[in-house]
Amino acid sequence: MTRRSIGIIVNGVTGRMGYRQHLVRSLLAIREQGGVPLADGTTLWPHPVLVGRNATKLREIAERHGLDDWTTDLTGALAREDVEIYFDAQVTQQREKAIRAALEAGKHVYTEKPLAEETGGALDLARAARAAGVRTGVVQDKLFLPGLRKLKRLIDGGFFGRILSVRGEFGYWVFEGDWQPAQRPSWNYRSEDGGGIVVDMFPHWQYVLEELFGRVRSVSCVTATHVPERVDEAGRTYRATADDAAYGIFELDGGAIAQLNSSWCVRVHREELVEFQVDGTEGSAVAGLRTCRTQHRAVTPKPVWNPDLPVTEDFRAQWTEVPDNDDFDNGFKVQWEAFLRHVADGEPFRWDFLAGARGVQLAELGLRSAREGRRLEVPELEL
Ligand SMILES: NC(=O)c1ccc[n+]([C@@H]2O[C@H](COP(=O)([O-])OP(=O)(O)OC[C@H]3O[C@@H](n4cnc5c(N)ncnc54)[C@H](O)[C@@H]3O)[C@@H](O)[C@H]2O)c1
Repeated sequence: MTRRSIGIIVNGVTGRMGYRQHLVRSLLAIREQGGVPLADGTTLWPHPVLVGRNATKLREIAERHGLDDWTTDLTGALAREDVEIYFDAQVTQQREKAIRAALEAGKHVYTEKPLAEETGGALDLARAARAAGVRTGVVQDKLFLPGLRKLKRLIDGGFFGRILSVRGEFGYWVFEGDWQPAQRPSWNYRSEDGGGIVVDMFPHWQYVLEELFGRVRSVSCVTATHVPERVDEAGRTYRATADDAAYGIFELDGGAIAQLNSSWCVRVHREELVEFQVDGTEGSAVAGLRTCRTQHRAVTPKPVWNPDLPVTEDFRAQWTEVPDNDDFDNGFKVQWEAFLRHVADGEPFRWDFLAGARGVQLAELGLRSAREGRRLEVPELEL
């Protein structure tokens, strides 16, 4: 079998996402399984070129994984002919200018979300990519989670009847950093550094809502900075200037209402870190990252409101688990494989820069809605 190597710049590989999900769990995992099979029988073999600012960290990562191609010189890496793809998992603020340079160098581009800080910038990148004739993709990993794939299967199978509402609860307690270190990077809590939970999570909610339930027509959002002071990686106290919780309501095409809470200031009393409850005329489901449970109309209990009596029913026990019926691989890896086939084989891939721009748009409108205290329409984006 012929093997074709494809050079991929992984910029931001020293970060949480760049290292764990993209290098280790995706690109190296693809190599471990022998590469990506293409339509003509060739196997595509990802060749990561590790790029970052810190030579010591890059060398250490390379050595740990038996790699030898790393550099702190992005311009030099972009000039290489054997590099076909630029991937960006840097902090959000650094993304736009690096992607622009990659497009100018004629590379295909795959990137973490959000694509840019503002809708205008995201659309400019989408237009520049179209003009350059290259292929683009934005990470939309939640679509590939087992729980959401089971939910999609229920929707496609007509389980719900007419979908009425979606209730999403996302979040966990992120430590302030004083007596226990924070488990997220401190830039997430400073808006001047591209942080904030709306910018972080609304791009995810946009594609989850659109792909499963319908286009988002309007957004209404209240944000908060519940914890105003935190302690950073170096032990310095800083002012948290970004939103650390967002309470959003979204009206969808088709009439369903989605209400999604996102918070880094909530303690988990749930099965999973994110859960969506979907209620339809024929049945309901609760999906998390991995699991999905249903209750059909025919077996729905009839509780009667009476605060004077103790609860006699175990409501949670009345739901039925949806079986896997499939093998679920890591979501980041599945999307990487799809993007690589898109680049090498021209296989369709709909999560492109325009799709990424819609995520940025929803975040921008969510923040504006919170600032202005009103509901905002979400206009269709066009190139
Ligand atoms: N898809 C998802 O579920 C998901 C989850 C978390 C984060 N993300 C996205 O991934 C990106 C990276 O997030 P992360 O949590 O890995 O962050 P991180 O802080 O762990 O990593 C950031 C990376 O950017 C590099 N960097 C480049 N220029 C920098 C600068 N000027 N200042 C600081 N760092 C700089 C850092 O060295 C590091 O490699 C963000 O855009 C974020 O929105 C996506």
